[in-house]
Amino acid sequence: MASAAIGEERLKGLRPMSMLDLTRVAAIERRIYDFPWTEGNFRDSLNAGHEGWLLESVDTPGKLRAYALLMWIVDEVHLLNISVSADEQGRGLGRRLMDWLIRHCFHEGAQSMLLEVRPSNLVALRLYAACGFEQIGTRRAYYPARSGGREDAWVLRCRLALEST
Ligand SMILES: CC(C)(COP(=O)(O)OP(=O)(O)OC[C@H]1O[C@@H](n2cnc3c(N)ncnc32)[C@H](O)[C@@H]1OP(=O)(O)O)[C@@H](O)C(=O)NCCC(=O)NCCS
Repeated sequence: MASAAIGEERLKGLRPMSMLDLTRVAAIERRIYDFPWTEGNFRDSLNAGHEGWLLESVDTPGKLRAYALLMWIVDEVHLLNISVSADEQGRGLGRRLMDWLIRHCFHEGAQSMLLEVRPSNLVALRLYAACGFEQIGTRRAYYPARSGGREDAWVLRCRLALEST
């Protein structure tokens, strides 16, 4: 696929997510989130036309390393989910996938990328800051929290036209 060729050398094993992947995607999701998306949530998202990307191990076929879901609204793209499997976290893979997504979206015409993140998710916040995201708003009590209460979401934006080369 033409768009997957962007940054191909640095992200071997990247391909579009399909319905056939969703059982394995949901298994990773359950392991890494307190409040995971269900397999049905992913199915609904793909059925709604959202763009899913999957990074599969080149050495171990069938082993999923990371994935992401994008929702396009004209020239703005919303990053709905970015996840790295538990045993691959903290080794730079999230950064490489984000870099690829940003370049891919810019190439496809996006002016900016938006996402929501928990203020308690320090690793994700660090990743997004390093990629050029800035906080533009807060959604109060957006997420369920482990305490039984709710946690805000921070809305972050990255202006791709300024960030990309
Ligand atoms: C958030 C996530 C996608 C980041 O991917 P990753 O491959 O683990 O992260 P990377 O190794 O690319 O590191 C990204 C940044 O976080 C930092 N980081 C990574 N692991 C860390 C840790 N355990 N503690 C502190 N910082 C950490 C890295 O140093 C790097 O920052 P830097 O560029 O300033 O050095 C991944 O950890 C994940 O899937 N987490 C669970 C799901 C999730 O929270 N998704 C995001 C929802 S908004």
